[in-house]
Amino acid sequence: MTAKIIAVVNQKGGAGKTTTTMQLAGTITRRGYKVMVVDADPQGSATRWAASAEDSTPFPASVIGLSAANEKVHREVKKFIEDYDVIIIDCPPAADSPVPQSALIVADLALVPILPSPLDMWAAVGIKQVIEHCSTINDALQARLILNQAQAKTTLSHESIEVLSEFGIPLTKTQIAQRQIYRQSAAFGVTVHDLGKASAAVKEIEALVDEVFAVLNLKRNKKQ
Ligand SMILES: Nc1ncnc2c1ncn2[C@@H]1O[C@H](COP(=O)(O)OP(=O)(O)OP(=O)(O)O)[C@@H](O)[C@H]1O
Ligand SMILES: [Mg+2]
Repeated sequence: MTAKIIAVVNQKGGAGKTTTTMQLAGTITRRGYKVMVVDADPQGSATRWAASAEDSTPFPASVIGLSAANEKVHREVKKFIEDYDVIIIDCPPAADSPVPQSALIVADLALVPILPSPLDMWAAVGIKQVIEHCSTINDALQARLILNQAQAKTTLSHESIEVLSEFGIPLTKTQIAQRQIYRQSAAFGVTVHDLGKASAAVKEIEALVDEVFAVLNLKRNKKQ
């Protein structure tokens, strides 16, 4: 087994990196894969998320903190590559941090959650340049933008999709809507699946994982 590595990046704070990381990690684990989250952010949000879980429902994936590794994150992550099927690196927002660059050197896929607001879209140009730079070193690197906190009926979300489709990084078909359940799942240290099996949030996260799996060439369920 050689892990597929996903780096969740955006220099803008609060875009949904940790939310995306944790929902994906829990969902991919449910599909029979062995998943590790690397919390590469000194804020430790992914670690706190997992720590918020009840003993009876521990967070499904392993979470380790590697933020202090700084520009050596890629080297440390590589040590786990034979032990997991998927490794997801939750990166810090800071533009001047060496962590996103380091993560993108080993990643197969960069996921960039982005909010449907002009300020967030302007700021995304910075991470696009970092991804492009890392692509010159890492041939395997692919990238996808994910519209997060989308509000289906607002013109802003609609306009965002038009602007982002010309951004130079493909946009996933699946959008993550703005929903309270995403905040609740952080508070309870779970994924949206644990808060109601047939919710719209479960459907969109499962659809997002399907898209990610198509990019990474992974089967829907490991044991099939
Ligand atoms: N789709 C959503 N619907 C509702 N709330 C959301 C959604 N996505 C994220 N949030 C909330 O928005 C806030 C920021 O999300 P999150 O922590 O995932 O972003 P981040 O990019 O990891 O932030 P940071 O840059 O600080 O690491 C959190 O309070 C989170 O619960
Ligand atoms: Mg975060």
